[in-house]
Amino acid sequence: MIKIGVLKDNDGRVALVPQDVYALVKKGFKVLIETEAGKNALFADSDYEAAGAQIVNRQEIRENADIVVSINFPEDFGVREGQTLICLTYFLWHKDRALKIANAKGTLIALDAIPRITRAQSMDVLSSQATIAGYEAVVLGAELLPILMPMLSTAAGMVKPVEVLVIGAGVAGLQAIATAKRLGARITGYDVRESAQEEIRSLGAQVLHLEGARTEEQGGYAVEQTEDFLRRQQQTFEKQASKTNLIITSAVVPGKKAPILITRKALENMPPGGVVIDLAAQFGGNTEVTKADEIVEYGNARVVGYTSLPARKPRTASTLFSKNIFNLLDLLIEENQLKFDFSDQIISDCTIVYNGELRHPALKSDKQ
Ligand SMILES: NC(=O)c1ccc[n+]([C@@H]2O[C@H](COP(=O)([O-])OP(=O)(O)OC[C@H]3O[C@@H](n4cnc5c(N)ncnc54)[C@H](O)[C@@H]3O)[C@@H](O)[C@H]2O)c1
Repeated sequence: MIKIGVLKDNDGRVALVPQDVYALVKKGFKVLIETEAGKNALFADSDYEAAGAQIVNRQEIRENADIVVSINFPEDFGVREGQTLICLTYFLWHKDRALKIANAKGTLIALDAIPRITRAQSMDVLSSQATIAGYEAVVLGAELLPILMPMLSTAAGMVKPVEVLVIGAGVAGLQAIATAKRLGARITGYDVRESAQEEIRSLGAQVLHLEGARTEEQGGYAVEQTEDFLRRQQQTFEKQASKTNLIITSAVVPGKKAPILITRKALENMPPGGVVIDLAAQFGGNTEVTKADEIVEYGNARVVGYTSLPARKPRTASTLFSKNIFNLLDLLIEENQLKFDFSDQIISDCTIVYNGELRHPALKSDKQ
């Protein structure tokens, strides 16, 4: 019987929720939950027990689980030989942790390396969490702004709508546009990828267009821009900032430090009470002043660098994450056996370490 262990995460989300635990137990798996793993997302240990799980400590998970699931890449969890860890790894930033798993002859499935293809959508943790981040960025921005979002026509006069600029129109950026639209803001969207332009427009936002970008994509992701183009982007946003109340940035190139798109000058140019929500804070940030998990005041703006916005809605974030994990386990487990069928692109791409073997090229070059 395959044993699945669920670690208590440090950001308040939990990787499997009781509803999916129940379905796994019904399929014949044993599920071990670390004490209070779901507490912050309002899933009590008793809910897990009612779903058929066993509440255990971390060491028991280490000793007994065949598969261990977590939201983030745990620093302190020593994967043992033959054990499989599934989590968001951002392994290009945490190669040391991935190499440690390889040295222990363990297996590492990087949820962030699942390909962005149609068949993998139901397992796409990046998308489910980015959806929440985009929504939450707008809600947080609306809370911090000193003005209301929508246009209002009242007996006391007219209130103009907030001007929002969304930079980076991937999953989070598009959700931010859709959410800001619902709140009545006037939105301008921008992305270097050509395919994003139509998506921005279809959500009712204006498209900001800048000639000269490298628009090619790698697996759907943007590529790094030239220094010259980045400078032109910065100058464009310095101008745009003077008529923007809320800027939401989410410009990311996988494995690279986030590009600086909002300069100090742009922050000085914003109208008083400006807010910037920097969704790229985890990767260094899209502004010159972003500090991870802090709010920095500069010029006319407050720059929010929270690195885990999805964790601010832990219940929804955990529920979606859990369904993604459930679907991935469904693909990985056949007839009660973990099967690593590397002819399947999804399994091949996300299994970056297999029984000690480094499978991802970026890790191979770092073998110690
Ligand atoms: N078919 C699927 O199953 C599926 C599912 C989800 C996402 N996707 C695709 O995957 C891709 C990545 O999405 P994501 O949300 O993870 O993106 P991401 O988080 O990697 O990046 C966010 C956005 O930043 C943009 N960006 C990068 N550098 C920039 C710059 N200098 N200036 C402005 N914008 C910049 C990117 O183009 C991207 O849209 C997208 O093409 C998306 O449509 C596909």
